[in-house]
Amino acid sequence: MKNVFCILWLCTLALTACGTSANSSSTLESPDGRNSLLFEVENGKLYYSVNRDNKPVINRSLLGFQLSREDLSGSFRIDNVTHSYSSTTWEQVWGEEITVDDTYHQMEVALSQTHANGRKLNLIFRLYNDGAGFRYEFPEAEDIVIMDELTEFNLAGNYPSWSIPTYHTEYYEGLYRKMPVSAIDTVPTPLTMKVSDNLYISIHEANLTDYAVLNLTPLNNSTRLKADLTPWSTGEKVFMTTPGVTPWRIIIMADTPGDLLLSRLMLNLNEPNKIADTSWIKPGRYIGIWWGMHMEAYTWAPGLKHGATTANTMRYIDFAAKHGFSGVLVEGWNLGWENDWTREGDKFSFTQSYPGFDLEKVTKYAAIKGVNLVGHHETGGAAKNYESQLEEAFALYHKYGVNAVKTGYVGFQHDGKEWHSSQYGVRHYRKVIETAAKYQIMMDNHEPVMPTGLQRTYPNLMTQEGVRGQEYDAWSRDGGNPPDHTTIIPFTRRLAGPMDFMPGTFKFENPVFPNTRVWTTLAKQLALSVVIFSPLQMASDMIENYENNPAFEFITTCPATWAETVVPEARIGEYVTIARKDRDSENWFVGSITNENSRTLQLPLSFLDEGATYRAKIFRNGEGADYETNPYPVTIEEQEVTSTTVLNIHQATSSGTAIILTKL
Ligand code: NOJ
Repeated sequence: MKNVFCILWLCTLALTACGTSANSSSTLESPDGRNSLLFEVENGKLYYSVNRDNKPVINRSLLGFQLSREDLSGSFRIDNVTHSYSSTTWEQVWGEEITVDDTYHQMEVALSQTHANGRKLNLIFRLYNDGAGFRYEFPEAEDIVIMDELTEFNLAGNYPSWSIPTYHTEYYEGLYRKMPVSAIDTVPTPLTMKVSDNLYISIHEANLTDYAVLNLTPLNNSTRLKADLTPWSTGEKVFMTTPGVTPWRIIIMADTPGDLLLSRLMLNLNEPNKIADTSWIKPGRYIGIWWGMHMEAYTWAPGLKHGATTANTMRYIDFAAKHGFSGVLVEGWNLGWENDWTREGDKFSFTQSYPGFDLEKVTKYAAIKGVNLVGHHETGGAAKNYESQLEEAFALYHKYGVNAVKTGYVGFQHDGKEWHSSQYGVRHYRKVIETAAKYQIMMDNHEPVMPTGLQRTYPNLMTQEGVRGQEYDAWSRDGGNPPDHTTIIPFTRRLAGPMDFMPGTFKFENPVFPNTRVWTTLAKQLALSVVIFSPLQMASDMIENYENNPAFEFITTCPATWAETVVPEARIGEYVTIARKDRDSENWFVGSITNENSRTLQLPLSFLDEGATYRAKIFRNGEGADYETNPYPVTIEEQEVTSTTVLNIHQATSSGTAIILTKL
């Protein structure tokens, strides 16, 4: 990390807060002066409010806790207020750009309760140009039990919002609904809202460590949202040995949807990288023995259609080597799949292969071909069974050169009892990430707890699911993902971090569920490789469906980590266009997608180097393309362009455009 500038100054209460001890306030502004926060103590209760450009975004909102033994909702006074300023930059091991600016103003408020026990509580507020963050600190040494976090976000308007319900949605795999925020039920974060044509906000959390997930509930169908932490099965929310801090509660504020996506507030509020040697962390694209299972061409368990055989894996390795993929995922290689694994995950072995899968032979072959095996640990939600084998399981993969593992938790709850997003789940997922790091293994976590930016601290946490992915286009009884889905998730789930959506399906016919399909054109499948950022990204389809299709070139050429990202245009639920610059060359890649409506993409290439010429290879939908009736035509054409060129490209219904811009 490079420390550009860092100043700390201390101010006494008299200087920064005004009023009596029972009623006092203190303010904070972002470095650019556009965002401001007012902290108030009134009659002993704690409140904050947030403005942008002098207009209220969040009205006076309550802060505090109910502990098992104490009420922390009032009787507070301010003991001290400390203001500080910090401006640094840091570099991402992988990401959507290399350097991240971390400039903020901070206000730390030390509080104590006025009654006999004099309990202390600190609040730390940070204002950035792209939003606000705050967290609580319990400064004294003791064991506490949080029964409820009282944090509220009292929105200044009934903003249109995009959300999925927390309850009755498994693993965040829902379709986002647009509705006034007062009409939502309990929802997970990120909760994205449109405040006005020039202001988009998203409430989320950063650095979720040994705590429960933040959900939000509107109080009495109002615009007052209250924190709703996922509980333990016994009803408590969080067990904490203090001194300790809560995760950051964050409000990203941006002028455009594109700027929401470019905010690095969440990452800035996570701890710096803890992995000293990152040379083994290698972003890339891979293929997998995977879609075949979801399309029922293969099975996970042994039998006539077993996918994870030695021969089939070697066939996939050959294909990966020929087309420059970094790895091959193999699901169904280990004992346990013959059971009802979503209920009997405790029968999984993570060290014993089925007789038809020779791990040593396959990994040796992969090494010769310059490809890595991507390992697979489906737990069925049986976290304890997995933890009991964790060290041996990662040691085995490490021994055979497997440098990435996909995990899964398909099961109603962890160990039949605790929610994925409870403190129990949060502790488990962290243990797995840390153990994987010890064995130099990159992680792709499916059925995760909602991501909160931990990849800054553990850059081996490459990507996570927590989204209704492409697999729903194989078997979902509701027919599959609607065309607008991928124009919404970049501004909702994706704000929480890389997203393992797994685009890249080339064959849409579905013999098993004829009414279920990928509801895009093929050109849109290409564009999704750029639109959806994931530093490990799988090309979803079975390899035979890629053979001899010239459009495949886009997927095999497209990098998975970037030097720079710009969002030339976006309307949530309608269209999004993203341009990203490669880390290893001067080339740019563009992905642009639309919902069920066709449109003309007008793309100024002003992000290109001025004065330079580039060859644009454009993959667009061909004549007559339509996502329902004629999804396959892709036209590939080339032209020379400069930073002053504006491309005009017709996009069919649920189509897209993918462009490679090679600097000449
Ligand atoms: C659900 C995951 O999302 C999917 O990718 C995987 O194939 C299955 N679980 C089996 O682990």
